[in-house]
Amino acid sequence: MKLSRVLLPILLTSWLNAACASTATTATNTAGPKPATTAYEPVRGQAGKDVIWIPTPPGLIDKMLAAAKVTDQDRLFDLGAGDGIIAITAARQYGTQAVGIEFNPDMAQFARRKVAEAGVTDKVRIITGDIFQEDFSSATVVTLYLMPHLNLKLRPLLLKMKPGTRVVSHAFTMGDWEPDETMSYLHAQGYFWVVPAQIEGNWVMTGLDGGPMRMSMSQSFQNIGGILSRGSQNHAMLGARLRGDEVKFQFITQDRKVHAFTGRVEGRRITGTVVSDYMHTPVEITRP
Ligand SMILES: C[S@@+](CC[C@H](N)C(=O)[O-])C[C@H]1O[C@@H](n2cnc3c(N)ncnc32)[C@H](O)[C@@H]1O
Repeated sequence: MKLSRVLLPILLTSWLNAACASTATTATNTAGPKPATTAYEPVRGQAGKDVIWIPTPPGLIDKMLAAAKVTDQDRLFDLGAGDGIIAITAARQYGTQAVGIEFNPDMAQFARRKVAEAGVTDKVRIITGDIFQEDFSSATVVTLYLMPHLNLKLRPLLLKMKPGTRVVSHAFTMGDWEPDETMSYLHAQGYFWVVPAQIEGNWVMTGLDGGPMRMSMSQSFQNIGGILSRGSQNHAMLGARLRGDEVKFQFITQDRKVHAFTGRVEGRRITGTVVSDYMHTPVEITRP
């Protein structure tokens, strides 16, 4: 009993002294200069969720954006944005509204810093997120520097985007969806596609003298072909071409005259004109 009466005050006093000393240290640290924090700096080749980080060289970015004919009316999404270089370049050079999606939060924060340094915070937004979860359906231009299997995983989504949406990929293709254009800078290669409208199947063209013509279209991505028929007469489509929502083809009628169709796809309707050396006729093509 006697011993505890002596020891307890001593122990309490020493605990309080220690607590005060620690508070004093904290107070000193808060008042003094902050400990130096090292700013995050990404390292080329560092791991990412589905693919490592390596930035696209500026020389190729210029060519990719030129191929996509990017303007200030576009909304560009860079899937796997890294340090934000593609989004920043589009905003600075073309005034494009751009969004970068980056999974690594440190990298995304680093990209935001770069956006601020470039003075384009009003045009570029960096989202911390997964490209397979985030919604980029409002894009008019999509840029990628991923991996072949990731491009293929994204392909069904890209093909469902609004016809005419432009897609540019650094280094990797889209399997059997052939590029509309390719570009290169030093050893780096780029690929460009325009999302094609879906026009496979049967249609009926009205507006021409002689009555409606049936149209049967085949399609593999942007490659199209078809046959026009009226009664027992069949006319093969020649030079058929689909670029986004723009369709062009020619056909030769019984009188051996070449007719050229040019039109635009709007869902289940294609409107355009047929031109030959004796006619210039507006036509409408609809699903039967
Ligand atoms: C090869 S770098 C390309 C960076 C930039 N697009 C460029 O071309 O300079 C790929 C980037 O994608 C990021 N990434 C990997 N998987 C991702 C995912 N599932 N969602 C979002 N970002 C991802 C990586 O962290 C890396 O920064």
